[in-house]
Amino acid sequence: MTAGAPRFNLARMTQPAILFVCLGNICRSPLAEAAMRAEAESTGLAIRIDSAGTGDWHIGNPPDQRAQAEAHRRGIDISGYRARQAVPTDFHTFTHIVAMDRQNLADLHAIAPPDPVANLSLLLDHVPGLEGQSVADPYFGGEEGFAETWEQVHRAAQALVQMLTNTR
Ligand code: 4NP
Repeated sequence: MTAGAPRFNLARMTQPAILFVCLGNICRSPLAEAAMRAEAESTGLAIRIDSAGTGDWHIGNPPDQRAQAEAHRRGIDISGYRARQAVPTDFHTFTHIVAMDRQNLADLHAIAPPDPVANLSLLLDHVPGLEGQSVADPYFGGEEGFAETWEQVHRAAQALVQMLTNTR
């Protein structure tokens, strides 16, 4: 930035765009994307929503069957979602990037460009009482892990929609 130029906060100026990031983009972040889409739609918040993984193993794959089933139980079809990897340019095309766990947060910091637009945060930092906590990875566990994931991403989506509504 040129010395003396006005400091615009792009995150406050543009329509919000939020990217949820986990490791594989087949379990937690697709559920966060789904919860955010539902919450934004029900409150009329205009926002672009996407999800990605820090890893590349599942690029192009649909969400894990157990994640699809959890979303389906909530009346949401996520079978059309496809996994992609988070890239440095995401920091210029999203206003908010939200990591599911502390490792995702560290991995995102590592690929962030020097002049990011996006505000990077930990998902559960947006939920009163759960600050600093990670969304546990349900991939290696049972079905019940996905219900817990839903509860957490749903609460965070409610808080994020409220925050984004209040700051506009
Ligand atoms: P996610 O879960 O990060 O919530 O999508 C995982 C999915 C796949 C793997 C790890 C975590 N994996 O090792 O393939």
